[in-house]
Amino acid sequence: MSLERKDDYDHNAWLQEKDLSPVETTFLTALIWMDKRLRIVDYLEILESLYYRVNLQMPKSHTEQYNLDNKFWYWYPLYTLGLFSTLSYIVAAVSGALLGFYYSPATTGDPTTAYTQIEFIMTELQFGFFLRSLHRWSAQVMVAAVFLHMLRVYFTGSYKEPRELNWILGIILISLTMGFGYTGYLLPWDQLAFWAGQIGVEMALSVPLIGEWAAQLVFGGFTLSQATLQRMYILHVFLLPFIVTTLIAIHIGIVWVQGIAEPH
Ligand code: HEM
Repeated sequence: MSLERKDDYDHNAWLQEKDLSPVETTFLTALIWMDKRLRIVDYLEILESLYYRVNLQMPKSHTEQYNLDNKFWYWYPLYTLGLFSTLSYIVAAVSGALLGFYYSPATTGDPTTAYTQIEFIMTELQFGFFLRSLHRWSAQVMVAAVFLHMLRVYFTGSYKEPRELNWILGIILISLTMGFGYTGYLLPWDQLAFWAGQIGVEMALSVPLIGEWAAQLVFGGFTLSQATLQRMYILHVFLLPFIVTTLIAIHIGIVWVQGIAEPH
């Protein structure tokens, strides 16, 4: 594949020679404008050839190996659970970002505390109750979907070579999904949150050797305080989204490269 620069090529003349509709002309003009600056076409070609080269190295799927016509398992409902996890994650992320416009992680202060903001969202904000419910439900659906997806992968034996890395990545993802659940549960700073936080601190403290250090790090001390809520908040809205989004992209990228494992 040639990667020579084609700066001297007269794209405008080429465009005028063609008898194109206004939509086609606009699209191609935009594409050429982008391509001159970012060489997107060249890089897309590199990605495409990389994809085919990597794919050739991968073991053939069951259907390819035995040349089976019947691909019914592509439609098998349990194979959609990974996608379902992704979709519920996206719904939770979007509704969570919107909730973030109104929420503030404050334990004290009049009138703005986390709890009063939740009250405001639920009782005064237009469609606030809907937004919060959407966020809570999508989060719970995600936990269930991820767990069922893991069972599907286990019972179809899809974790076996060469997919071990994706299984391990999955273990990390399910743990982080639960981390999302726990940190989010504390954010309303109501009685449920407070006592769940208390249990968390005590669990951290009960870890041998590093217990006190872990409680300091995660909860900002040995008792619940503003530092605790602040940490839960930043974990929930910044660190976890960043890490989980990246890991889901890698996870799905690996499935894309390896192809889906079919039941044997
Ligand atoms: C945030 C959580 C997760 C998301 C968004 C996710 C997403 C996906 C998607 C979209 C697929 C494509 C196949 C399918 O949909 O069934 C997939 C496959 C896979 N996932 Fe996950 N997953 C998650 C968690 C997990 C967990 C907890 C495990 C196991 C511990 C796991 C292990 C795997 C493996 C091994 C594959 C390849 C399966 C095959 O090729 O048939 N994933 N994942």
